[in-house]
Amino acid sequence: MLEIYMVNLENNLDKEAFDTLLCYVSEDKKAQIHRFYHFEDSQRALIGNVLSRYAICKGLNIKNSDITFDKNEYGKPFLSSQNNFHFNISHSGKWVACAVSDYPVGIDVEVIKNIGFDIAKRFFSKNEYDELQKQPDDQKRAYFYKLWTLKESYIKAVGKGLSIPLDSFTISVEKSAIVNSNEALIDYSLLHFSLDESTFFAVCAKNIDSYKKIVFDVKEFYNEACKTL
Ligand SMILES: CC(C)(COP(=O)(O)OP(=O)(O)OC[C@H]1O[C@@H](n2cnc3c(N)ncnc32)[C@H](O)[C@@H]1OP(=O)(O)O)[C@@H](O)C(=O)NCCC(=O)NCCS
Repeated sequence: MLEIYMVNLENNLDKEAFDTLLCYVSEDKKAQIHRFYHFEDSQRALIGNVLSRYAICKGLNIKNSDITFDKNEYGKPFLSSQNNFHFNISHSGKWVACAVSDYPVGIDVEVIKNIGFDIAKRFFSKNEYDELQKQPDDQKRAYFYKLWTLKESYIKAVGKGLSIPLDSFTISVEKSAIVNSNEALIDYSLLHFSLDESTFFAVCAKNIDSYKKIVFDVKEFYNEACKTL
């Protein structure tokens, strides 16, 4: 089972709705949310946390008050009380996403920006960089972001952050697969998709056989969250 929940933030939450959702998160998270300077950053962090709570309550049929999060030594949040229910969140631009699975999972969302490709030479493996160079000019940026999000989703599934050097494994964008000979990587599956022309999503999990995508706008999500949490 893999479910991918996504919230579109084209419209902002109003103050009342923001404050209502804030009641569902922990005191630590509230403090973190209040520390952001920009409202957009606070909103993404709030929705990310509430979305993971929503997905967990749905998936495990439990109450929000039963949820306690912990973090591994690299900062990846996990459920303290469950070893076989996994989740991961990502936020960028107008999107917040949460993937839940019976197996370790990572998700990455990136808004396409006009950054230079020199970053690819620094961070991608040699094979990945060579493949990028082969792409037609008008497709290079999309290719770069697909690869970036796929790599990031793998790192997030493993949960060890950038202690895994980004050039230490190779991903084929065409196959959506890790193509190293390293046996330990074989049962990780990858998928990528986009929901608008400026954002890419990638998900990595062990044993993806099928998956479901659920997309909300922020108002719909607010109503759903209030009903469920
Ligand atoms: C922190 C990191 C896990 C992801 O960072 P990011 O892409 O900036 O942020 P995302 O929005 O995708 O994910 C953030 C969420 O991931 C989760 N997270 C934090 N540490 C994590 C870890 N070690 N593993 C998995 N998930 C993690 C948290 O829930 C966090 O959200 P929160 O702080 O609101 O709770 C890390 O991989 C990182 O810093 N990457 C750098 C990006 C980079 O340079 N990429 C180059 C690719 S070529």
